[in-house]
Amino acid sequence: MVRRNWTAAALSGVLAVSVLAGCGGGDGGNGGDSGSGNDDGKITLGFSQVGAESGWRTANTKSIQESAASAGIDLKFSDAQGKQENQISAIRNFITQKVDVIAFSPVVTSGWDAVLQEAKDADIPVILTDRAVDSQDTSLFKSFIGSDFVVEGQKAGDWLLKEYEGKSEPVNIVELQGTTGSAPALDRQKGFQEKIATNPNMKIVKSQTGDFKRADGKTVMETFLQSTPDIDVLYAHNDDMGLGAIEAIEAAGKKPGTDIKIITVDAVKDGMTALADGKINFIVECSPLLGPQLMELVKKADAGEEIPARVLTEETTFTQEQAKEALPTRQY
Ligand code: AHR
Repeated sequence: MVRRNWTAAALSGVLAVSVLAGCGGGDGGNGGDSGSGNDDGKITLGFSQVGAESGWRTANTKSIQESAASAGIDLKFSDAQGKQENQISAIRNFITQKVDVIAFSPVVTSGWDAVLQEAKDADIPVILTDRAVDSQDTSLFKSFIGSDFVVEGQKAGDWLLKEYEGKSEPVNIVELQGTTGSAPALDRQKGFQEKIATNPNMKIVKSQTGDFKRADGKTVMETFLQSTPDIDVLYAHNDDMGLGAIEAIEAAGKKPGTDIKIITVDAVKDGMTALADGKINFIVECSPLLGPQLMELVKKADAGEEIPARVLTEETTFTQEQAKEALPTRQY
């Protein structure tokens, strides 16, 4: 697509700085026309995905690929296989190829300033999807679309507080964290801890990363079960780790959902099935279907239009009964 011309837009009054929402606005002073990724009239989007660690991620990739195709956007998709260095080199490649817009879901929160500055210097707008970065300079990206992971952790904590309301016995909780240093792992832990801190009976007795993967969830839960005989609750930062943990719990002769209450995040089909079957007790939804909204933002960013600094995903929670109702029409 023909590169947006920030300077022209600003001169014509289309891009009024006063109405721009926070970090999403403006060209950061770059201005100018840096050329386009191709000559076929299509917008070229370079997208760097985390990997394929979970059912959520698979659904997210599908949503992005399908939405790009139906929006007529030329998608250059790169799978980082869980490694930040792969994402950084993918972004550098996108810059070299002069794509129109770059979007990525950062594996971890820190260490992005240099490459984001390179994209800004090349006048290529960047949109964060799903996960945040900790950059202080918010002019390095135009928008961030995704969930509020702290709120997700709080919802998990709220459910647990209610579950043990009026009871005085100690509640031993084990936690399966997501990828170390990732926004969802940090924030889901934070939100959950904030809530359970209000009940002195509740204690996280073990907490370890399972890297958002089913196999790791299983092995870490096996070690939890060996070292800690009296586990009351498992809080897993995603369904996949929870599902792996269920295998470990069953292999240890215990009944998931009954002997050990389980809370997870995501609400992918496999998780919802386990919830409906009584093996999980509560799921906090995290929607992977970011593709359609992302493509709208990409089109606007390419055209030099204002875009919101933050696009928050709408999400709910599921009890076992609600999962039974929702399952037949669940898309992912
Ligand atoms: O960033 C979103 C998280 O990443 C999902 O909750 C998890 O399943 C995925 O791997």
